[in-house]
This record gives sequence, C-alpha cells and structure tokens, in this order.
Amino acid sequence: MKILVLGGSPKGEASITLRYTRFLGMRFPEHRFEEVYVAASVRSLEKNLGELIAKVREADLVVFAFPLYVCLVHAAYKRFFELVEERALSSAFAGKPALLLATSIHWHDHTALEYVRGMAEDWGMGVCGVYSAGMDDLVKASERNRLEAFGRLAFRRAASGELPRRETAPRPDWDYVYAPQAGPARVDPRGLRALIVTDGAPGSGIRAMAERFGELFGGDSELVDLNALPMKGGCQGCIQCGLDNRCTYGDSDGVQAVYREKLRRADIVVWAYGIRDRYWSARAKTFIDRRFLDTHQPNAVGKQVVYLVSGPLSAHANLRQIISTMEEFSGGNLAALVTDEPRDTAAIDRAIRGAAECAVECHQVGYQAPRTFAGVGGAKVFRDEIWGKLRFPFVADHRYYKAHHFYDFPQKEWGARLKTTLLRALVHIPAIRRAILVDMKRHMVRPLDRVLESIRTSPGTP
Ligand SMILES: Cc1cc2nc3c(=O)[nH]c(=O)nc-3n(C[C@H](O)[C@H](O)[C@H](O)COP(=O)(O)O)c2cc1C
Repeated sequence: MKILVLGGSPKGEASITLRYTRFLGMRFPEHRFEEVYVAASVRSLEKNLGELIAKVREADLVVFAFPLYVCLVHAAYKRFFELVEERALSSAFAGKPALLLATSIHWHDHTALEYVRGMAEDWGMGVCGVYSAGMDDLVKASERNRLEAFGRLAFRRAASGELPRRETAPRPDWDYVYAPQAGPARVDPRGLRALIVTDGAPGSGIRAMAERFGELFGGDSELVDLNALPMKGGCQGCIQCGLDNRCTYGDSDGVQAVYREKLRRADIVVWAYGIRDRYWSARAKTFIDRRFLDTHQPNAVGKQVVYLVSGPLSAHANLRQIISTMEEFSGGNLAALVTDEPRDTAAIDRAIRGAAECAVECHQVGYQAPRTFAGVGGAKVFRDEIWGKLRFPFVADHRYYKAHHFYDFPQKEWGARLKTTLLRALVHIPAIRRAILVDMKRHMVRPLDRVLESIRTSPGTP
C-alpha cells in the first residue's frame, strides 16, 4: 500500500510521533511510507494545498500521526483541518482508510483521538485503527511488540477494501447568529474584574455574546479579541518554558501579557468561542496552546470561569468534556456555560445575565466545585510525570508541585496503610472475616455517621 503519513507536530522532522510511524515502516517494508510535516508547514499549505491533496488522492491509506497538544491536536494541525474544509477538498479523503496514531503522556489523549476520528469520519474515511502511544514507549521491547501487532492488524484491515462504519455522529449544521436586544439591566459586579477573551470577529454572534456579557457586567471588564491580538505564531514545542515558565516568544507579541497580566488580575474569566468543526477555531487553539507557558501548573486558581459558546455544543460531547478538563485543571470554577442553542435572543440574554450573576455570587461565597475524574485523574497523571521522568525539563513545575503539596502520593498516608495492612492480616481469621463481611456496609458509613452525629450534637461544627 501507499501510506501517507500526515505529521501533526510543530517540530516537523524532529517529531517524536514520526519515530513511531517510521518504526512501522521498518517492520512492514512491503508498504511504501511517505511523510508530510503538515503542522510544521501549515503556512505554506495556506498558499498551496494542492500538492498535498494530490498525495492524498494517490494514497491507499492515510495516517494521522500527531502529538497531543492541550487535549487536542496542535493549532497548526487544527488549521490544516480547517483549510481542507474551507477549500472544499475533503472529497480527496472520502472512501479511504485512515489510521490515527498519537503520542502523549496520556493526559486526555482520548479527547484528541475522538476529535481526529470525528474529522476523518466527517470526510468519509473509515478509521481502521487507533493507537495512543506514550511518548517514550518505543524504547521498550514490549511496547514495540504491541505497536507491531497493531500495525499488522490495522494494515490488514485497511487493505481489505472494507471500511469500518463510522462511530461518531455527523456534526449538525449551524447558521444561527445571535443579535442582542438593547438596554440590558446591569448586574452588580461588586467590585470584581472580568476578563473576556473571544475569537469572535466583529459582527459574529459569539462576539455579540461576549460584548453583551461585558455590558451586563458593567464595572471593570475588558475584552480581548484574539483576531486583533498580536500572535507571532503557535507553540513550537521547544519546552523552554519548562525551566522558568518563560515562553520563547517572550513579550514579542501579545499572548504572554494576556496570561501574565490580564488573566492574573481578573476575578472572573469569560472564554467566548464559536464552534468550528468539532472544536474552536485554530486561532483560539493557537492562544490556548500558548497557555503552556505555565506548563503543568494551574493558572486560574480561585477564579470564576464562564464559557459563552456559539454553536451546537450539546451535539459535541467531546468538546464539552474538553471544557470541563481545561477548567478543572486550571483551578478555576466553571460557574456557567451559555450557548446560543435556544436560537432565541431573549432566552440567550437571560442566560448571559444569569451567568454573570452566578459568577459574581460564586465569587462572593468562594465556591469551587469539586473536581470530577477529568480533574482528579489528570492531576495524578501530571503529579507522577513531574515527580518522575518529566522533572527535567519541567523544573518550575516541580518547584510549584512541592510548594503547593501536589505530591499527595497514597504511600505517604501512614495511618491508612497501617490499617489496611492489619485488616488484610486479620481477614485470614475466619471468625473476623465473617464479622467484617457481615457488617461491611456499616463499616463504610461509620466515619460519615460520626461526622453527622457531631454536627447534630454541636451544630456549630464546620
Ligand atoms: C504545549 C504542549 C502541550 C501538550 N499537551 C499535551 C496534552 O494535552 N496531553 C498529553 O498527554 N501530552 C501533551 N503534551 C506532550 C506531547 O504530546 C508529547 O511530548 C508528544 O510525544 C510530542 O510529540 P512530537 O515530538 O511529535 O511533537 C504536550 C506538549 C506540549 C509541548
């Protein structure tokens, strides 16, 4: 087969991910592999996409080979997906088999894979295999064996001529443009400051939603338009930020100032984005990737966060999951999420107003919602990586994690360890085993009942 590898790394040839597809090329010499550094050359693809599309047309199999970048693909790879659709060229991909191969540290790799699967299936491709490699897997013989087995199965499936059926739902069209009503009754901002960031161009529905929030909030609010914000380029994956959280772009454009000054000053942060394909725009993604100047540290601790979204978010469960992940990781509280899905100005206005009120109220009482699996699981992945292999070059993260007690490994819980060791020994004695098992449900609620009892007897107990 002629196999075309579409590389998603901004590092081009120096991509870790491409080492995995090259390994497959070595193990399966009967197939002809060709690489294109799509993300690294997206600026030239903006001018000339034709050559690449000709290669796609000739290919028997297309491999989307990409690194994870903030729950998704890199902004430049995202831009490539947009270009194909803007120029109505997706028919070149239709009817072809696709493989997805990602490398990462497995922090929300599933959302990136789901995004690329959705895009490939939207273009009429059949996804014959999905592989999520840890970035260092290739050095382990067991992982090489696994990848080789994947290749054998996936290439056979791709060559069979039978395309697997699609697993993602087609994305719904969206043509609604919100236009606000005049004269909003203001929310009392109680001295709080709001930062509103949008990728909505003037005249778009999402821009109008962002501006509406600003008007309602009154007081101290600032709107950052990502279309006007100077951005020299996307994250280059150079990891210089790992040492001291200084981005290689420095203050040569406007991104660092938004994260370092405007975001830090704000009490309420509003992200106002329009859905573009299955995510936000590549412009928004460029800004989001550059958030990595704070590497693996939360950058919105204690802030209230509001999302304003234009588009059918309820049909994009994957994107909804990314929103939760991002905010649970950022340390902020997702106070409200408003979309223009009601397609009704008055209802959307009410929802925006409700969001502003909710954010103020949550801030007043200092509410932070507990994290779900997205935040709890993700924090454990980072904790273990920064403690271990990634301590260098992520020196600044290690410092932060130590200072903020992020190294909460279970092996430090001596009391719990002693108790479970004792119980594990005692359970071998039949009489004790019977007694424990009979009363297991009671054992589990006993400590909670004790708390309730102390509150009942002294209601002042926190
Ligand atoms: C800015 C940035 C963002 C990243 N985001 C994620 C992420 O969300 N999840 C993850 O597991 N790994 C993430 N990574 C790790 C890379 O995906 C991983 O190192 C990958 O193997 C790099 O491959 P490449 O050399 O082909 O670019 C990120 C790395 C960088 C530099």
